[in-house]
Amino acid sequence: MKENLNLIINNPKKLEGPISIPGDKSITHRAIMLGSLSDGQLKISNSLLSEDCMRTLEAFRELGINIQIDDDTVTILGKGLNGLSETKSQIYAGNSGTMARLLSGILSTQNFNSSISGDESLVTRPMKRIIEPLESFGALIKSKDQKLPMNFKSSNSMKPIKYHSHIPSAQVKSSLILAALYIKGESIISEDIKTRDHTERLLKYMEYPISIDKKIVRLQGCKNIVAKDIDIPSDISSAAFFIVAALIKRDSDITLNNIGVNPLRTGIIDILLKMGANIKLTNCRTICNEPVADIKVKYSQLTPINISGDIISRLIDELPVLFIACATCNGQSLVEDIHELRYKESDRIEAMENGLKKLGIDIVSTENSIKITGGTFSGGIIDSYGDHRIAMSFLIAGLVSDKPITVLNTSNINTSFPNFEDILRDQKIDVYTV
Ligand code: S3P
Repeated sequence: MKENLNLIINNPKKLEGPISIPGDKSITHRAIMLGSLSDGQLKISNSLLSEDCMRTLEAFRELGINIQIDDDTVTILGKGLNGLSETKSQIYAGNSGTMARLLSGILSTQNFNSSISGDESLVTRPMKRIIEPLESFGALIKSKDQKLPMNFKSSNSMKPIKYHSHIPSAQVKSSLILAALYIKGESIISEDIKTRDHTERLLKYMEYPISIDKKIVRLQGCKNIVAKDIDIPSDISSAAFFIVAALIKRDSDITLNNIGVNPLRTGIIDILLKMGANIKLTNCRTICNEPVADIKVKYSQLTPINISGDIISRLIDELPVLFIACATCNGQSLVEDIHELRYKESDRIEAMENGLKKLGIDIVSTENSIKITGGTFSGGIIDSYGDHRIAMSFLIAGLVSDKPITVLNTSNINTSFPNFEDILRDQKIDVYTV
């Protein structure tokens, strides 16, 4: 990773034409994991080969799986559920919470010992949310204050999981589903608020016996995952930066093709439509059990919004860029029930509040909410706190700022959207590296 890269955005033009968005991060992680545990060879196309997903890919190579990369197609020779082997050294998850938490579900049920750690941001993030449930069903996990690094001891006393999650987290749910694959009998995992269901959908696509009834997932352990080629939709969380960009930059008119529109991820579109956005979904279809559509977006005069409750988990990763959209509206927006934002790659409430204040926006936060009064961005130097989504959100703010915005420490954009800067340049937007 390039260290401490800083980007300035200045004198932008409108956005227009088709913009090609890379593959979905959540689904790529899962496709590599389930492909490795499947019963044969499969190809994953439109994979996201960002730093986060590469950490998952490298981990499965270290766990003994043959994985080849050709452009954005990944070929995996799955060895079946019991085909993983002990790694030579500690597994490194880098910046990826998804990898660390999902892989922990798999590692806690293997017949060998292992350990996993991450970068300086990941080692501060909470792991108790997976350690507690996994341990209560027999996993043997040692950790430092319920955080990474975590050590897994082979356990032969795992019992079927019956767990209800009060935290709205697809990572917790998926970690338990992946552990349940290895436990004989029926596991039942439910949640207060339904979160993204890519793990469940992909298992179903790969003919695994799993049933989903509203917020309850039931699956049988120790069955076969059928190796089938997987086509990954483009990532709506990455698309969101350009959706907001086109909405706030006068005269913009863009098309984003092949975007994943899983209903548990499209909260951002629902809310932007309520704010008066001109967004149209066409060519709606299903690919590998995931809904996909083409999205057309035109510049729109947005109005402020109040949101809270279940919708939050449907747009959790898009909140930073939604705050940028709110900051361009005439009036006050209130976003509540966002406490989970404090546990992301940075404390995103604090990072957004500090950045927007620097740009001259009136913003007030509590532990669980943010209130933004729209205005004009003054320009200035913004700290990304090493968080990819904070960095990209403020670069998008630079499209409508009076003076240039410099965003510090933007290297982490590579964790989820390696060609973000290239797209800006293709759009003839001046981006300078300092
Ligand atoms: C993810 C789930 C969400 C999301 C993250 C990706 C996933 O995290 O914020 O970017 O792929 O399961 P939580 O499960 O912590 O909400």
